[in-house]
Amino acid sequence: MNNNPSISVFGLGYVGSVTAACLAKRGFQVVGCDISQAKTDQINSGVAPISEPGLDELISQQHEVGRIHATTDAASAIKASTISFICVGTPSTASGALDLRFVEGVSQQIADAIKEKKERHAIVFRSTMLPGSTRQLAERFFSEVSHLVDVFFYPEFLRQGAALADFEDPSLSAIGVLEVSQKTDSITGVLEKDTEVVLVESAELLKYSCNAFHAAKVAFANEIGRIGKAVGLDSSKVMHLLCQDDRLNISSYYLRPGTPFGGSCLPKDVSALCQKARSMGVAVPMLDSLLESNQRHLESLIERVEFSKTRRVLLVGLAFKAGTDDLRGSAMLELAASLLLRDFDVKIFDPDVAPRNLVGANQRFAAAKLPSLDSLLVSDLAVALKGERTTLVISKPCVEIVELKKLLGGDEEHHVIDVNGWADLKSIAPSYEGLCW
Ligand SMILES: NC(=O)c1ccc[n+]([C@@H]2O[C@H](COP(=O)([O-])OP(=O)(O)OC[C@H]3O[C@@H](n4cnc5c(N)ncnc54)[C@H](O)[C@@H]3O)[C@@H](O)[C@H]2O)c1
Repeated sequence: MNNNPSISVFGLGYVGSVTAACLAKRGFQVVGCDISQAKTDQINSGVAPISEPGLDELISQQHEVGRIHATTDAASAIKASTISFICVGTPSTASGALDLRFVEGVSQQIADAIKEKKERHAIVFRSTMLPGSTRQLAERFFSEVSHLVDVFFYPEFLRQGAALADFEDPSLSAIGVLEVSQKTDSITGVLEKDTEVVLVESAELLKYSCNAFHAAKVAFANEIGRIGKAVGLDSSKVMHLLCQDDRLNISSYYLRPGTPFGGSCLPKDVSALCQKARSMGVAVPMLDSLLESNQRHLESLIERVEFSKTRRVLLVGLAFKAGTDDLRGSAMLELAASLLLRDFDVKIFDPDVAPRNLVGANQRFAAAKLPSLDSLLVSDLAVALKGERTTLVISKPCVEIVELKKLLGGDEEHHVIDVNGWADLKSIAPSYEGLCW
């Protein structure tokens, strides 16, 4: 006897027909539903409605053993299942915005069918949607039947051309729930092992982040490719070598939201590369945008300080990263200079930085950007924080957390802006915000 739940798959395009066939292969009884009679007829004849390696054979086998069929009647598909996967299209409008027409249409049909059926049903959106969409759909279409439905957003990461293998062994699996207390028991059997459970908005943003990252990788490789071609070399070799570095390049390194990039190398070298490309007439809009993007990020930090509504600001951490006194290209140094121009009362705490020890280019950079550095540096945090509510912009953990806790515990209710996600900070600061969270 088959104890697997029956599943309906709405939308039998590239994602839906692969999903339907692979779920049938796993032993689920699957009913596909599409507004296209031609597509449902194809499934019911054991033929794949789209072209994807291996899919024709799989649908033919599953059709033969009676585990897959299709219909254009949404109500009957809902009646025959306890879980629905939504794989309808989410195209772009003429202006480039996301068009939710099809997910809205299918949500209405499903809500109507569940009202009739009056039994518990899980709705798993797999169509790619912007943050906030699943919650909006749940409120707009399923609030009347909220006691009967469990709504999830479960992003799909398959690639066309390798879709069957990707479905069997996804590169990533995360599911979005509407509330942290929402259980995934109703769909346990269809979730991949070790699926991360997050809020729907995080799962929605995750899908877009992945696609944006893939697009950024392709654009980056192509821009390096064009520069390589212009200087007469084979840039595929260069990129091959770049990928050999799995510590800094192909890794999670440099992929944490936080401080704008800085230091003596990244700004200078990005700038030189873009200049070289321009001199050869090679357009590199993505590389060109990096310094501007970095500047925008610094400005967003300045905005956070301005919103905090204190005139006194203490920067904790000044050098461009922990464990160095290098101030060249330091975003915190730029921040200090910008805040002084805006008339903030700025103090800086960084035990790694002693102006008398700064030499050479480091000293010249600091003197040019922040001539008053000497007078801004403090060594006693207690004195710096006494008497007035202060915004602390903390970019590195250069003070013991227990000491910081004591200092923040006074009457002033100091505000903390955490630039780099220092895990312990949130629990000790009376007023806390993360730069990117
Ligand atoms: N194609 C991919 O590689 C891929 C990968 C991951 C995620 N996605 C996302 O998955 C979603 C589906 O993509 P796709 O490429 O399979 O789209 P698609 O256009 O190939 O298929 C969508 C199907 O939905 C059907 N449909 C529309 N309204 C319907 C309704 N009310 N009821 C039933 N069926 C209905 C359409 O007839 C069509 O057959 C999109 O949001 C897409 O962004 C796509």
